[in-house]
Amino acid sequence: MRSRTRWIVGLVIVGIGPLLGNVTQGHTPIASRFTYNEHLFPIFERQCGSCHIEGGVGPMSLLTYQEAYPWTQSIREEVLALRMPPWKAEDGFGDFSNGHVLPAHEMDMILEWSAGGYPQGPRDQTPSTSTISGGGWTYGPPTLELSLAEPFTLEANTTETVRYFVLPTNLDEDHWVTNIDVIPGSRAVVRHVSIYIDTTGEGQAADEASPEQGFSTGFLGQAPAAVWWPGQTLRTHERVGYSLPAGADIVARVVYKKTWITEGQEFSDQTRLGLHLTDKQLSTIEHIVVDSPLPNGREINFTHRLDQDITLYGLLPEIGIQASELQVTGTLPDGSTIPLLLIRNPDSDWPTRYLFDSPQQLPSGTEVSISAELAPGSDPTEVPSLFNSDAPVRLLLDVTTDAVGN
Ligand code: HEC
Repeated sequence: MRSRTRWIVGLVIVGIGPLLGNVTQGHTPIASRFTYNEHLFPIFERQCGSCHIEGGVGPMSLLTYQEAYPWTQSIREEVLALRMPPWKAEDGFGDFSNGHVLPAHEMDMILEWSAGGYPQGPRDQTPSTSTISGGGWTYGPPTLELSLAEPFTLEANTTETVRYFVLPTNLDEDHWVTNIDVIPGSRAVVRHVSIYIDTTGEGQAADEASPEQGFSTGFLGQAPAAVWWPGQTLRTHERVGYSLPAGADIVARVVYKKTWITEGQEFSDQTRLGLHLTDKQLSTIEHIVVDSPLPNGREINFTHRLDQDITLYGLLPEIGIQASELQVTGTLPDGSTIPLLLIRNPDSDWPTRYLFDSPQQLPSGTEVSISAELAPGSDPTEVPSLFNSDAPVRLLLDVTTDAVGN
């Protein structure tokens, strides 16, 4: 509700803005060295533009001054509370290739601009074509393009739903997946997509048993090979990939969610997946799932001891309880420690797979320790797991166990 009020206030300002010209800014003296066009626009485009664009999944565009400035107070609150952007990994604690970290100096610019009268600055900026189109494949044309067999209708009275779709690959030879890309059919409502490689036929069986398009009964198959949201893709390192045996199906788990701006509207979605494949045998990425015990007071601490040498490519944490912080550290057999991941204010609405810039070599005997600080009075939130775990805190590790993938 709070945001709805802000929106109405915003509209009023936008409505009368053109009549008043520069006078709208007269009430706050300009005390910002930074202007929208020179400094803020590039930040908003890079850090927020994948969602906060006309027709995107965010409730408003931030890509023109007229659209952005009514939101200055709200932007301030969201970035200060570390709710936006949804990328949560703390800078400098693990280095990731798929990051959307808001660096401290960009946060400072946003805060100074919003408190300092949010000046517009010279020369209007326009979003680059790559941000606007958003319709192209991020890594060029894929080897195999798959799409929902028919459009899925998100009814006007449905606010949020999770649906699984089976996409047969019809490949009769074994392949390896090096990259997966997603083009959402309806950008305004496709929040995230998790992609599974199904070698068991479980997805097909669930689909046939379900009278509706796709199925929603859950999918207890393997862990996802990719987790996508606007601005995120899977990109593995050279010489490693996911195994895609002949005849395997792809199962896409799509989370549709409206904002207060799209509430009540009907949408039709036909999301497309782009798989980059090779038939050269690659070192195969496998998963280790580590489940936490129940909380002890306001903390949950647990460790997993590696019983073989691994190369660690990525981490997908899940938190089914409200936590204020999650930290993952590796302690090597020689006692030295490696910071792997630090997240403040984890938000289960945006499941994120953190992919290391350079894969971490962890020898057998390494202790991976995970600690979560729970938010005061935190309740279990029953966040459905993407990898079939029901522990309060769980961590998926993407690893290879041979020496090839270095
Ligand atoms: C991956 C998509 C995504 C990115 C990136 C993102 N946002 Fe958002 N943002 C959303 C969504 C979706 C909402 C609506 C709240 C919800 O349903 O989670 C939202 C809500 C907001 C709100 C509150 C709007 C309201 O209704 O009160 C603000 C302000 C905001 N975002 C600012 C930003 C800023 C600033 C950035 C970049 C620094 C950013 N966001 C990056 C998706 C995103």
